[in-house]
Amino acid sequence: MIPQAFIQDLVARVDIVELIQRYVPLKKAGANYAACCPFHNEKSPSFTVSPSKQFYHCFGCGAHGTAIGFLMEYAGLGFVDAVEDLAHQFGLEVPNEGPRFDGASHTQQRSLIDLMSSAARFYRDQLKQSPKAIDYLKRRGLTGEITALFGIGYAPDAWQSLEQVFSKYDDPALVEAGLVVTNDTGRRYDRFRDRIMFPIQDQRGNVIAFGGRILDSGEPKYLNSPETPLFEKGRELYGLPQARVGIRETDTVIVVEGYMDVVALAQFGVGNAVATLGTATTPTHVQKLLRQANRLVFCFDGDKAGRKAAHRALEAALPHLADDKNVSFLFLPEEHDPDSFVRERGAEAFQAAAQDATQLGRFLFDTLIEDCDLISAEGRARLIHLAKDYIPKIGAPNLRVQLVRELAQASHVSPEEAAQGLGLAIAKPSRGGSNRFGERKPPPPLPRAAVTPLERKLLRVLLAKPDLSGKLPLSLLSALPDNPERAALIAVVDAGEDGTLIGAPLGAWLEHFRGNPHENAIALALRSLEEGFVDAEQIDQIFQDTLTELELGQTSAEISRLCANPRDLQSEAAKEKLRELFEKRVLLEKKQKLRSGQSV
Ligand code: CTP
Ligand code: MN
Repeated sequence: MIPQAFIQDLVARVDIVELIQRYVPLKKAGANYAACCPFHNEKSPSFTVSPSKQFYHCFGCGAHGTAIGFLMEYAGLGFVDAVEDLAHQFGLEVPNEGPRFDGASHTQQRSLIDLMSSAARFYRDQLKQSPKAIDYLKRRGLTGEITALFGIGYAPDAWQSLEQVFSKYDDPALVEAGLVVTNDTGRRYDRFRDRIMFPIQDQRGNVIAFGGRILDSGEPKYLNSPETPLFEKGRELYGLPQARVGIRETDTVIVVEGYMDVVALAQFGVGNAVATLGTATTPTHVQKLLRQANRLVFCFDGDKAGRKAAHRALEAALPHLADDKNVSFLFLPEEHDPDSFVRERGAEAFQAAAQDATQLGRFLFDTLIEDCDLISAEGRARLIHLAKDYIPKIGAPNLRVQLVRELAQASHVSPEEAAQGLGLAIAKPSRGGSNRFGERKPPPPLPRAAVTPLERKLLRVLLAKPDLSGKLPLSLLSALPDNPERAALIAVVDAGEDGTLIGAPLGAWLEHFRGNPHENAIALALRSLEEGFVDAEQIDQIFQDTLTELELGQTSAEISRLCANPRDLQSEAAKEKLRELFEKRVLLEKKQKLRSGQSV
């Protein structure tokens, strides 16, 4: 797999004009370049290439895309070939390893990988020569076969045993790789001593880090490689290359907490388990795994720490949920971890338990309800309040609808009220100010065809100027109707938060969304954007106007909500709040009137 970061970097570094010019003669036309379209027959040029967006578009046949897309379409290349071809043309090397690499070159990365692989070989050899290490693994019930499959080794009980492998023990690369440590006096010594060594591999099987377990008791029980140019804990998973076949066969990944858990499960025939590396599950982990399988089962110890870890995993999973994916949580009996469970009860019992794992929606509800006394109005209100941090973040639209319903039932409100309580809009909120105080029914939504829906407008604006995504408050988005365009908007904002895309041209953003569920919505928005061109200065204004409109919608919705139940309006505080909302609305309307007639 080619790292995303490289693709973004490639799109950012390659000049699409220069590239296309190699195949199609381009003529300057204003800010863009034009030519007769290479993808359909025409006499006058409707094919344009935008250097600022790093994007091409044909007004005649609708062909459009990035530099990579151009090569795919023009030369009939697959994605990977196109990336390689493009990189080659522009003198860049494609990293064919999994890990991300910031700041250092591919050659440096390669040499670190070589160091790690030599070290791994050394540790494996040392295991054969250490009766006490072999004895330890035997006591833990590991077979020689599984020890070899995972490349488990032993770091000898000495300060500088790596000297036997690396003649240049003072090579700074050894420190950079995390194998050697330097102390205050400048003395160098092996990081791992007298430990069972678990090599951590990337998706391609390169050793990028180690986890070392102490033989008996002692602190720390596990010592891991530091983060290095090869190793970013929050992205990597232990056991991924070994689990690949099992994952494919079962369309399921089981995520456990420990190295030993992965190894024991594999030994007993549960070959689709991976482990996070002594860190909480990250959204990147979830995203990576859901790309490889449709079912994800988190398996945690049954203790309090396990519950907490499950909670973190739940939060990491929410944005990456999709309605065709399934995420569940398996809690083992308190005295067990997957290692001890599978040894005591066997693979079948483990598989059955995994089959039966608690679905994410159920787990979410159970966790929320635990904290609320549903007998009282306050408790039920609290439930909605707590749910607000979770349900709106769910990336699977249909699951979200189901959970809103369930929330409504549990808290004795209508689904509409529940959705409002969560800040999720049901119908498009009113823009008009004619909603009389005390009126029960919210005004009817505006006819949809008359104006471009806000979410579509916003998506176009963000695609015209992706960096604006940093200025779009996600809280406002929850007021938009729940549709693929809104989901795409949220994804664009998320991508922006990642940081790596800031300042990148549109092409880099598009590559980020290739093959992802939002690709379609984004392509559609882009097409209409290209066809009704707007210049950059106007974009900022349109963005501001859209925010005003959104805020206005949200304010009106809040007013309707307050007014829906006049009994709630008896307190001074509620009246004050309503006054504030009315004032806010008047201000927003003034702001809007000052600038009317703009649309994307
Ligand atoms: N871990 C760590 N550092 C520690 C303790 C734990 O990095 N000091 C990580 C390791 O990845 C470990 C996982 O957390 O595999 C789970 O920890 P724990 O449950 O304590 O260990 P087990 O995997 O059960 O290890 P063992 O069975 O060898 O005791
Ligand atoms: Mn254990």
